[in-house]
Amino acid sequence: METKPHHRFPLQNHLLYILLLITSNLLTFYLFSSPHGSPASSSSLPVPPPPTSSFPSEYYAFTGPHKLPFGHNPNMDSSLLNPPLAQPCLLSGSFLTTFLSYNVNSSCPDDEPLLQKLLLRGCDPLPIRRCREIKRWVTPSTNPLDFTIDEVLSLAKPHNSIRIGLDLGGGSGTFAVRMRERNVTMVASTLNLNGPFSNFIASRGIIPLYTTVGKRLPFFDNTLDIVHSMHVLSNWIPTTVLHFVLFDLYRVLRPGGLFWLDHFFFVEGQMEEYVSVIESVGFEKLKWEIGRKLDRGAELKEMYISALVQKPLKNSW
Ligand SMILES: *[C@@H]1O[C@H](CO)[C@@H](O)[C@H](O)[C@H]1NC(C)=O
Ligand SMILES: *[C@@H]1O[C@H](CO)[C@@H](O)[C@H](O)[C@H]1NC(C)=O
Repeated sequence: METKPHHRFPLQNHLLYILLLITSNLLTFYLFSSPHGSPASSSSLPVPPPPTSSFPSEYYAFTGPHKLPFGHNPNMDSSLLNPPLAQPCLLSGSFLTTFLSYNVNSSCPDDEPLLQKLLLRGCDPLPIRRCREIKRWVTPSTNPLDFTIDEVLSLAKPHNSIRIGLDLGGGSGTFAVRMRERNVTMVASTLNLNGPFSNFIASRGIIPLYTTVGKRLPFFDNTLDIVHSMHVLSNWIPTTVLHFVLFDLYRVLRPGGLFWLDHFFFVEGQMEEYVSVIESVGFEKLKWEIGRKLDRGAELKEMYISALVQKPLKNSW
């Protein structure tokens, strides 16, 4: 007897829930099946632009109807195969065009930012491409600014001593994931600027550290084996602030720990200023590459430094 009210209420809740579900579905059905639709609802729904002939041929090769080799297939009740394309992909037509402009059977373009723009706009899953993914930090490159993880780990002393580290400005967590494949545990610092980066990193099994470069790092002195940073430390940071940040990285690295400054961006006129700041902290240089960044034109005099530096094993305070 005591259990009766206990049973009745959830049942009522269930019925109410089912009723709500049915009415909301009917309402949606009514709204979307109405032949004319109210002006408000039709104007608020973006209409995808029709695919035009300006799409690259790989777009049509992927989405096009493909004849089945044995004709009509009773299981599919079709003689054609139509690979699906998520509708929001068409809402970002220019990104989609760039994404699908590549050479078949070659290396895929290095376009992870573009790929994330498409995903964040709902183009998920992305179309399949017929190219080989470049594995940044894994595949050796002819560009001296691109170091590989294996090369960096092999320079660590003692050998095999890199076990934990921080990726400062971890982006979507790919660097940390690559390090984990080599049994190095990484946390990745990130903000959610323009996207749910913390959540994305977390979903890849990497701890997202929600912190900015202006803040003292939440690690004790002499604890990390490696710190990597790409795209966050660059010439948007005033040199004095960079000096503070580099001293803090030096603090948290253990003697012999590595700081991998990956593609530090600046313009030619700033070279002396930034180089002297980086050099002044007391790291020893293991690798030091300066190169031009040419993708936006040589006249902009844009440059990169990629450096692998080490906190000295002796007398590093
Ligand atoms: C694709 O590229 C690979 C590696 O470059 C090559 O071995 C292969 O023959 C190519 N296949 C075709 C169909 O072009
Ligand atoms: C990582 O650790 C596992 C388990 O100890 C081992 O089997 C594997 O070979 C290691 N991988 C690398 C790249 O060292």
